[in-house]
Amino acid sequence: MRKIVVFASGSGSNFQTLVEKLHGKACEVALLVCDKPGALCLKRAADLNIPTFAFNPKEFASKAEFEQEIIKQIKPIAPALIVLAGYMRIFGPTFLERYEGKIINIHPALLPAFPGKDGIGDALAYGVKIMGVTVHYVDAGIDTGQIIEQACFKRTGSETVEEIREKIHQLEHELYPEVVRELLEAKR
Ligand code: GRF
Repeated sequence: MRKIVVFASGSGSNFQTLVEKLHGKACEVALLVCDKPGALCLKRAADLNIPTFAFNPKEFASKAEFEQEIIKQIKPIAPALIVLAGYMRIFGPTFLERYEGKIINIHPALLPAFPGKDGIGDALAYGVKIMGVTVHYVDAGIDTGQIIEQACFKRTGSETVEEIREKIHQLEHELYPEVVRELLEAKR
């Protein structure tokens, strides 16, 4: 069965959905990589029996060094895809030179609008009427890689910010596993 590695930094709700929908069926979720020891995604991984590699970037002299360490962990897995799910770091050349073209990310806005850390907040502040999510390949930029798929909804105008965030997450949980499944099938 083909293997994927998921990267997350925070809550990990997308990671959990990927495991629940795909693990042991479309692929093996072989490892969760996390740059925030103590993050909720690590607890989710433990509950789901998915191996983890957690590291603290501050304990390394440079990005190149911790990326070497991640590569060491991932290499034996030979993942078909590297799936970023709320991983809040930009890769450097050490990692990208090895895996570019295999790394995908999900972003909570309709790229190329509203890249960066707070896509939802930025879209709301702008006052957009249609909101959505984007799955894209990862390159050296911030949410600039080639778009693979998008999904959207129209605001009713009466939702609270919390309800919007919830809708975005729901959309992500539907779209991301489907895109991963399709990419794995296409690359078979
Ligand atoms: C998601 O909204 C995703 O679009 C963004 O980070 C968030 C991660 O959420 N890249 P979760 O940790 O999967 O709940």
